[in-house]
Amino acid sequence: MKDDNFLKENNARQIWHPMGHPGDAHTTPPKIITRAQGVTITDIDGNTVVDAVGGLWCVNLGYSNDKLKDAISGQLQDLPYYSAFAGTSNPPAIEAAYEVQNFFVEDGIERVFFTSGGSDSVETVLRLARQYHRIRGEATRTKFLSLKKGYHGTHIGGASVNGNNRFRINYEPLLPGCYHLPSPYAYRNPFHETDPVKLAQLCAQAMEDEIQFQDPSTIAAFIMEPIQGAGGVIVPPETFMPLMRDICDRYGILLISDEVITGFGRTGDWSGARHWGVKPDMMSTAKGITSGYFPVGAALISGKVAEVFENSDSAQGGIYHGYTYSAHPVGAAAVTACLQETLRLDLKTNAAARGTQLCEGVKALAEKYDIIGDVRGGHGLMTGIELVSDKATKTPMDLPTMSKIHQTAYEAGAMVRLGAHNILMSPPLTITEDEINVILNALDKGFASA
Ligand SMILES: Cc1ncc(COP(=O)(O)O)c(C=O)c1O
Repeated sequence: MKDDNFLKENNARQIWHPMGHPGDAHTTPPKIITRAQGVTITDIDGNTVVDAVGGLWCVNLGYSNDKLKDAISGQLQDLPYYSAFAGTSNPPAIEAAYEVQNFFVEDGIERVFFTSGGSDSVETVLRLARQYHRIRGEATRTKFLSLKKGYHGTHIGGASVNGNNRFRINYEPLLPGCYHLPSPYAYRNPFHETDPVKLAQLCAQAMEDEIQFQDPSTIAAFIMEPIQGAGGVIVPPETFMPLMRDICDRYGILLISDEVITGFGRTGDWSGARHWGVKPDMMSTAKGITSGYFPVGAALISGKVAEVFENSDSAQGGIYHGYTYSAHPVGAAAVTACLQETLRLDLKTNAAARGTQLCEGVKALAEKYDIIGDVRGGHGLMTGIELVSDKATKTPMDLPTMSKIHQTAYEAGAMVRLGAHNILMSPPLTITEDEINVILNALDKGFASA
């Protein structure tokens, strides 16, 4: 490895970073993270902070899980790669699929299709949804419904169902036939409804209205995050996802639960859909499936959908979709070890307790600081803080102030994530009470600096 001077000189020079302006990175280079241990990260200048981001909503087990590291290095020795396209398989992939299916059996999941990450998983479920209807003789069902504020990755299909325009407008025209419904976002919504349960009803009515307008026979699937993550941690009331399930059932529309963040314990349950008492038709997963140690995702398929594919003729039911790294043996070994550790450490229970602590702590800060417009969370380790420069008009906080808060919090011991004028937090699910207090103290200093 080259020395620190080389790294600093070349930081953001050759590499273009996702989700940022390549020119801005020359003037404000990214922090270089060199090491990590437990739930802390260390940068090139030796600063060590609690990682309230969990890498990117993914390092559920923290950074020091030796069982997972050993599984990856051991598998590299035995079989570093082989294709899993039809005709060949490998032992870790067979075992990982078995473990994943068991993990989600209560959600009605019966089949697993491995991918290389969340965007791939979303793309897979969208494609399979269309094919499912085609096999059943309803080839007109091609459209997708989704929620505003939703995030479903960055492939063309996923970006098309995304509900935040900053991920869309520079890449239009996107996929035709994608329609966006109001989000159950009580702080801001077109109905001016602050009661979450009433708002859920209004969103459901808007959905039925859109379905009637489009004609149900044209709609393949509705995709939603059980708790909207990147859009600002938007937590619906418990009535919302069951309402969506009911509408999908009545109109023959598949319900896809995008569990890329919410899967594997982050909400305080093993899946976000289970958290709300709903069984989806398909799920897209990634992140916590390997705790971020190896890039893996999985599209998960319910018995209802699997049966249609498996009983179809080969021309219609063949899945001509997949990735070179689908069911990668090293990734698959990581999946099995990760799930075993996730269950052994019962991460969901800690996520629920520490999530409540974090959310309550931020609510206490909201009493102190007027710039905190809204605090969202309390369902596992996903907490969002929406900052405003004027509480009465809810004017979004300006970006220089957001950056100042971010940097001050970092200097005070916690890495948090900014999403426009929101602070988003999703620390490792192994985090302790004391480490949550470090985050809260750092935020306090950050807000005081604004
Ligand atoms: C709900 C959701 N879906 C899909 C994705 C895309 O996943 P990836 O970045 O692994 O492609 C993300 C990423 O954060 C996500 O939060």
